[in-house]
Amino acid sequence: MRISIENLGKVYDNGKKALADVNLEIENGMFGLLGPNGAGKSTLMRILVTLMNPSTGRVNVNGFDIQKQRGEIRKLLGYLPQDFRFFTRLRTWEFLDYAAGLSGIRSAKERSAKVDEWLEKVGLFDVRERSANKLSGGMKRRLGIAQALIGDPKIVIVDEPTTGLDPEERIRFRNILSELSQRDVIIILSTHIVGDISSVCQCLALLNNGQVGFYGTPEELVQKAQGHVWQLSTSGFEYELLKEKYAVISTIPSDEGWEVQLVGEELNGYNAIPIEPNLEHAYVYFMEYLAQKKLELR
Ligand SMILES: Nc1ncnc2c1ncn2[C@@H]1O[C@H](COP(=O)(O)OP(=O)(O)OP(=O)(O)O)[C@@H](O)[C@H]1O
Ligand SMILES: [Mg+2]
Repeated sequence: MRISIENLGKVYDNGKKALADVNLEIENGMFGLLGPNGAGKSTLMRILVTLMNPSTGRVNVNGFDIQKQRGEIRKLLGYLPQDFRFFTRLRTWEFLDYAAGLSGIRSAKERSAKVDEWLEKVGLFDVRERSANKLSGGMKRRLGIAQALIGDPKIVIVDEPTTGLDPEERIRFRNILSELSQRDVIIILSTHIVGDISSVCQCLALLNNGQVGFYGTPEELVQKAQGHVWQLSTSGFEYELLKEKYAVISTIPSDEGWEVQLVGEELNGYNAIPIEPNLEHAYVYFMEYLAQKKLELR
């Protein structure tokens, strides 16, 4: 599978520029879309799943043009929207059966086996007879994940899939995606939780204000923050100054006042030691760095 995104732009009807000049090549495996609220992640995903037309640019999905060959592309897709909601009287298992039917599985026997398999996988087997409406928020999210994946899609697009999931379910979900990503499948996952990406995504893009600020592997992003993450001990007064000038990542009370980790371009005049950045540090560093460069759309 392959998705090529070229000079993609989106302006909403009210004039809001949500994406500008986005260029990405996405290959098999797990691709992470990271970025703060309003960065344009959901907009990009809605375009990729053919629910919305781009204003400019082109997207090619495995040889199909996103505007001319919607039907072909839709057959490949499994999608979990960010605001996945349903109004249904169906029971949990019926809902999944229905989703399996939509994905093109004709045989009732085959559907039934698939439904049971996915109920197990997302931990809903025990509540399969419960009305889907009456599931808890996290359970509804899991049902959303199952409906996106039950048809064995070649392209999986999941928008903030782990919102509302407890830690165990998060891990369970990560494992489901990791297994899938061993195949000829593209999984695109958006999140603002760096931890969801660090362990599983081979490649990621950082969206900021509708533009791609970074595109590459998690390791490459971490590399960018090398030499820009620091640790120091500080007293109360100095701490207030530091907070104004730098992005403080963590603060732990110590004998002298605070043990602080922060990111910054340079840190002159302080008795600070550089530390090894992780993906979260790198994300913060990069966002600060981009903000300083004042990447504005207009
Ligand atoms: N239907 C719409 N009409 C006008 N503007 C919109 C519409 N949908 C989104 N926007 C705007 O486009 C920008 C990008 O929104 P989008 O939902 O793609 O961001 P996001 O990265 O998914 O954010 P979040 O992390 O909060 O989900 C935001 O400024 C948003 O307010
Ligand atoms: Mg969103």
